[in-house]
Amino acid sequence: MPATVIIGGQWGDEGKGRVVDFLSRNCSVIARYSAGSNAGHTIVNDLGRFGLHLVPAGIFNPNTTCIVGNGVVINPKSLLDELAMLNERGVDTSRVRVSDRAHIVMPWHLAIDELDEKMRGEHAIGTTGTGTGPAFTDKTGRLGVRVTDLVQPESLDQLLSFILPYKNRIITELYGGDPLDGDEIRAEYQEYGRQLRPYVADTSRLVQDAHDRGEQILLEGAQGTLLDLDNGTYPYVTSSVPSSMAAGACLGVGLGPTAVDRVVGVYKAYQTRVGDGPFPTELFGEEAAALRDHGIEQGTGEYGTTTGRPRRCGWFDGVLARHTAKLNGVNSIALTRLDVLAQFDAVHVCVAYELNGKRIDALPASLHEANAVRPVYEELPGWKQEVSDVRHFPDLPPEARAFVRRIEDLVDAPVDMISVGPAREQAIVTRDIFGGTL
Ligand code: IMP
Repeated sequence: MPATVIIGGQWGDEGKGRVVDFLSRNCSVIARYSAGSNAGHTIVNDLGRFGLHLVPAGIFNPNTTCIVGNGVVINPKSLLDELAMLNERGVDTSRVRVSDRAHIVMPWHLAIDELDEKMRGEHAIGTTGTGTGPAFTDKTGRLGVRVTDLVQPESLDQLLSFILPYKNRIITELYGGDPLDGDEIRAEYQEYGRQLRPYVADTSRLVQDAHDRGEQILLEGAQGTLLDLDNGTYPYVTSSVPSSMAAGACLGVGLGPTAVDRVVGVYKAYQTRVGDGPFPTELFGEEAAALRDHGIEQGTGEYGTTTGRPRRCGWFDGVLARHTAKLNGVNSIALTRLDVLAQFDAVHVCVAYELNGKRIDALPASLHEANAVRPVYEELPGWKQEVSDVRHFPDLPPEARAFVRRIEDLVDAPVDMISVGPAREQAIVTRDIFGGTL
């Protein structure tokens, strides 16, 4: 059975977690393939509301093996805290497996993330401060500590004696920070290694074996394509290697690309972004506040799951959506948060940009130009009607259906699932992409 990849088609926070939670019920394996605890997934189900950062969102399905793949960078304390929180709330975590090749976020990564943002001054990226970027930098710089090293005290010792003095020089001499203490780090990380050992495995073998047995596999992306190092709004991007895009999924779990045949692009019915960087359809004032604060009483406003920062909000950007669909080979769309748009008399979708008086249909690579483009909007009638209880596409107001159809045209892929509220059942499935089993 071919594997399915779930990717974010915007700047992250599209609602991938709830889509994975929804689709996972027929999968035997769910694997996270990139990023770190900078990512945040919010899931609302029978057990309550959960914010996950490293454990795959499929953890609520009792039949699924949940893998943290080799492409993820792991803060061991965050992972252990997340596992403990899940156990306390009655979720069985014995099916979690962590790749022995995944890299570890070490204390110097956290320190350097903060010091580096300060040093950049007005050019700061607005990172999540989780040490994710510096951990990926060290992975490509061949200065990383992997899970396999964490669970073997001699190996951890050896790496600490080489890497820590190196990093302390950077922290003190370049950034003017305080040096880190080797003994404390050794004791703390040996203990993390001891606690994580039962979960550690050669996870690529697990995924490959499940694939050979013909089982359903879901590869769960984090963040969004517009934060991708190569194809996003550089330098205002994240640092994952492999990238969070569909093409990175196979690398990040250890499967060959021929194993994948479906790419589900998750798109919010409007656009959000946390951190700095270009955002052509950004709104300010009342309309932005209306998007951001919808559902705020229920905790579903547009505030970061990881940092709590208010998200920047704007209209759906069809130019960027088509671009990310093509980059990922999206052949199925999950459109989220359609209910949020019900409050507007008219909704807008961006269909092109204007730059220096010329109409263009792509966001330029140049940061200066990307910041200067003006969106060309198409205005569609609003529906001004609650849709959170709708479960069948024909029951949506005609204006809402027209909006969905327009998005399909713009993105050039079918909308197979629409979410109309945070709860698991608040969804409309328009095409059963898992063969009649949903
Ligand atoms: P970093 O990944 O912490 O280095 O942050 C780099 C950029 O990516 C910042 O603009 C972050 O706000 C953004 N970012 C990282 N992870 C996420 C996510 O899961 N959702 C949305 N934005 C994210």
